[in-house]
Amino acid sequence: MILKSLAVAVIASSFALSGAAYAGMGHNPNADKQAIVITAFGTSMKTARQAIDNLVKDTKIAFPKADVRLSFTSNIIRRKLKREGVANVPSTPAMTLAELNDEGYQHVAVMPTHIIPGAEYDEIGEVVKAYRGIEGKYGFKDLRMGRVFLSSVAACDEVAGLLMEKFAEVPADEAVVLMGHGTPHHIANAMYCQLQVALNKVAPHRFYIGTVENTPLIEDVVAALKVDGKKNVLLAPLMIVAGDHANNDMADKDDDESWYSILTAAGFKVTPYVHGLGEDKFFRHAFVSHVKEMLK
Ligand code: CO
Repeated sequence: MILKSLAVAVIASSFALSGAAYAGMGHNPNADKQAIVITAFGTSMKTARQAIDNLVKDTKIAFPKADVRLSFTSNIIRRKLKREGVANVPSTPAMTLAELNDEGYQHVAVMPTHIIPGAEYDEIGEVVKAYRGIEGKYGFKDLRMGRVFLSSVAACDEVAGLLMEKFAEVPADEAVVLMGHGTPHHIANAMYCQLQVALNKVAPHRFYIGTVENTPLIEDVVAALKVDGKKNVLLAPLMIVAGDHANNDMADKDDDESWYSILTAAGFKVTPYVHGLGEDKFFRHAFVSHVKEMLK
């Protein structure tokens, strides 16, 4: 009799446990919740970081019920930030997925902020593919991945439209030179040429794309500007973040090898524009629409 009442008391007190303890007993509050992982290369420049944070903020506003997380693909950047004592350094995509799994998420969508479907995009895709292969409690019910900005011919047309709007106020006779990142060993580098085709269609002799890591070279851009008789150039990054490449390889006036110096030495009047596409309202809006597309 004493034993029996003791058992009842134990059962009764377990019902009075807090929600957290209840979660530990099998209930999973995140099971039906959507998680969105935004992946960026990352940057260690404080001023450049805003471009990435904008995309996270806009996604949170568009999906108030979702859990939106940021992850950085670059281990070099992540380690540098940790060395500098920066708080809350974003995890890698693989770590973020493991964390979400640990917290009980079943519906996860991974959205890259990259421009071309190059090596970085492939590597995120490998992580997603590996997780998709996991059945049982360490896997997800629904794991998707979104697209990059230049993912198809139609996507290049869309980005050409965004660039037209973004640079609408640049005088008609001024050329807009865009610095793409480029990728040395990947066929996706060709997407820059596809974007050039799309731009030439809507604005002939207006936009000139070069890349840091592959072709078109800045020398190709200079040659094209001369053929077209251009005098004035607006120089801008074709990257989400205006970080190291935009500040140093593109706009550094004290570096003879920067695009600014090369263009100036070639006789052009150059106006550098050091802002990433993540700072631009048209690109921010397009990014959120790509997240929506992924979740449809
Ligand atoms: Co780079």
